[in-house]
Amino acid sequence: MSINNEKLQEKLGEALGLEMAAQKAVNELISRGLIEEKTFRQKIENMKGQAGKHEDKLEELVDRLSKSEGLDPTEIQSKAQETEQKASRIMETYLGQDPDTQEALEFLCLAEGGEVSHYEVLSAMARGVKDKQFGTKVKSILEEEKRHLKMCTTLARQNIAKEA
Ligand SMILES: [Fe+2]
Repeated sequence: MSINNEKLQEKLGEALGLEMAAQKAVNELISRGLIEEKTFRQKIENMKGQAGKHEDKLEELVDRLSKSEGLDPTEIQSKAQETEQKASRIMETYLGQDPDTQEALEFLCLAEGGEVSHYEVLSAMARGVKDKQFGTKVKSILEEEKRHLKMCTTLARQNIAKEA
């Protein structure tokens, strides 16, 4: 297996793990009562729905590339699990003992920022992939992740303005 394919497996696994972690994070923040405001909650639930769709799209891409480029889906899945667990630990560390809504929203900014940069990297790697649908799909997810980051940033700004 080429170094390029190994890197691609790693980066796809990380993106997949981040999407899984993003959905778990939203569930966790809501169940801990950190996102109480109705409009905030709707927007964040909506973002979670899109993360689920990204996860499905990535699974499809993994399937395609395992056939066309010889990627190993098992390696990708284990990287995804590892990344999801890491992301969950990062969230616990970030929130600490007594988190509030502002910290929860700022954690979501951090998570979405991580997603944006991972899809930027995957998009750069897509140039070396023969299957051009890969690049197209990665770019469409990237655009949506940029909107997620923007939305989370807006919510963080709105929340602090309310508190101030
Ligand atoms: Fe996202």
